[in-house]
Amino acid sequence: MAAHDDNIVWHQHVVTGEQREQLHGHRGAVVWFTGLSGSGKSTVAGALECALHRLGVSTYLLDGDNVRHGLCSDLGFSDDDRRENIRRVGEVARLMVDAGLVVLSAFISPHRAERQMVRERLAAGRFIEVFVDTPLSICENRDPKGLYKKARAGELRNFTGIDGVYEAPVNPEIHLDGEQLVTNLVAQLLDLLRHEDIIKS
Ligand code: ADX
Repeated sequence: MAAHDDNIVWHQHVVTGEQREQLHGHRGAVVWFTGLSGSGKSTVAGALECALHRLGVSTYLLDGDNVRHGLCSDLGFSDDDRRENIRRVGEVARLMVDAGLVVLSAFISPHRAERQMVRERLAAGRFIEVFVDTPLSICENRDPKGLYKKARAGELRNFTGIDGVYEAPVNPEIHLDGEQLVTNLVAQLLDLLRHEDIIKS
């Protein structure tokens, strides 16, 4: 990775983040979903995006399964690769927040340190950590992509929750019970975004 270069100086552009937010009519923030594969991150993030879109909020959804087809297509699932995956996505999310968007990100992001790294790259109040807490047994039962089955059969290594670590958030902004109805979860998230002053009522 390139080290900090003293010859590269930050350029302050004319249009400010604040002005972009005024145009959108809401603040920019990242709603960072974390949880096991199959916990419902993408489903809840997708449903929240629909609800926000209907409210006129400018959004973008960054999803692990999709980003790994492009921006992160060179990365696998070793600890180093997952760290780099989250670092890149965190930087993209940060730029999008600067653009004034409400960014929804759905990545397992199994390590606390990486989630903390993204949090620290954003201003206070702009990183909303959402723990989608669904028991492993339920995720494994759902197994939408058949990957738990492969992991149990030893055909897939380093699979989160089986032979790969998942560090649950200690102090997330919100802790969701992943077995509840998606509409309930979306309602809780909208309340939180209003409470945090990201969107207006
Ligand atoms: S992360 O750990 O780097 O945050 P990310 O969210 O991008 O993971 O990708 C997770 C998705 O990749 C899972 O939902 C699953 O479909 C797929 N996947 C493939 N191999 C693995 C693995 N070893 N562990 C976890 N997920 C995997």
